[in-house]
This record gives sequence, C-alpha cells and structure tokens, in this order.
Amino acid sequence: MKFLIVSGNPKKDGLTAAIIDEVARGARDGGAEVEILTVDKLKPCRVCGDGWGNCRSAHKCVFGSDGFDAAQEKVQNADAIAIITPVYWAEVSETLKNFLDRLRRCEFAFGGGTAFNGKQTLIAVNAGGSGNGIITAIEQLDRFCQHTGAVIFDRLGFNRWNYDYKRPTAYAAARAIAEGRKNGDNL
Ligand SMILES: Cc1cc2nc3c(=O)[nH]c(=O)nc-3n(C[C@H](O)[C@H](O)[C@H](O)COP(=O)(O)O)c2cc1C
Repeated sequence: MKFLIVSGNPKKDGLTAAIIDEVARGARDGGAEVEILTVDKLKPCRVCGDGWGNCRSAHKCVFGSDGFDAAQEKVQNADAIAIITPVYWAEVSETLKNFLDRLRRCEFAFGGGTAFNGKQTLIAVNAGGSGNGIITAIEQLDRFCQHTGAVIFDRLGFNRWNYDYKRPTAYAAARAIAEGRKNGDNL
C-alpha cells in the first residue's frame, strides 16, 4: 500500500514534525510504503474564469506546472492519506490551505474527481499554543474530505500538554490503516 502524508508543516523539528514521524513509523510498521509530501512551495489558487475555472471538469489546474501537477499525481496514486498540520489562527497552515484549495477544485467528488474517493484518510492537527483551534482546524479538514469524497478514518488533535499520552494514537492509527483497517470495520 502507498501511504501518503500530506504535510502542512514548515518546520523540520517540533511537535508537528514528531507527529509526522509517528504516523510514518506506524504506516511503515503496518507494511506501507510511505512518502511525505510537502506543499509549501506551491502558489495559491487564482480563482480562474467566473469563479469555477475549468479545473472542476478538467480535473487539472492550468497553473499546475509550479509543482501542483506532481503533488496531485501523488495524491491520486496513494492508497491511503494522512493530512497533518500545525494549527495557525485556528485553521490549517496557510501553505496547506493553498494546496487543498486547488486540489479540492480538481478533485471535487460531485464533479467527478477521483483522487480521494473512498480512500482512508487520517486527519491530525497540532495546536501547540493555546490549544484553541483544534476543533476548527479539524472541521476545516473534515469539510475538505466531504468535498473530495475522502473517507475520514480518524481525527486527531494534539497540543503541547497532551502530546505524551496522545502520541501513541498517531502511530496506531497509521498502522491500522496500513494493515487494511477501514472506517466502519468492527473490532
Ligand atoms: C502564525 C501562528 C498561528 C498560531 N495559531 C495558533 C492557534 O490558533 N491555536 C494554537 O493552539 N496554537 C497556535 N499556534 C501555535 C502552533 O499551533 C504551534 O506553534 C505549533 O503547532 C507547534 O508545533 P511545532 O512544535 O511543530 O511548531 C500558532 C502558531 C503560529 C506560528
């Protein structure tokens, strides 16, 4: 199984990076081939045409040569996905939002996008500061999954004072997905 981690994290160290490591380790231990996709070099959506552009029907961004096409292809080729981000302003990081905005337009489920359809998707957010914003950031990713047809396997919220006891869930959730568990499976 190809397990893709879409990272909204601009940093190489810290809590979010540690969560990414845990998810990667869990997925590898579950037998998956893991790749981490960073999206911080991509430009924002330019909202073409009358607002819809042609990406919803073409399933491609006309400005995709900035690296978006390659990133979209990785998502299309993945069997399972984790989306992991620090919480900034009670939302996902701006760089991740840029990528997800463009990806949603290309992969909107009711428009016929297929990259996410039925794929087990793990959401993990790290609100390291006040701890506020976990719910709103998860809700933002929840909506992205609804729009793209991704199946949410689990939603994990971390902060700097729950990390020790929550850390094992990042590993375990990724491992369970890699081993083939699906949303709805009874234990
Ligand atoms: C621009 C910015 C906005 C932030 N907004 C929030 C927030 O709304 N709620 C919160 O709990 N933490 C907030 N934080 C703290 C980050 O969530 C925290 O730095 C990060 O998750 C810690 O993880 P790290 O060790 O990977 O940097 C913010 C940090 C930055 C840089």
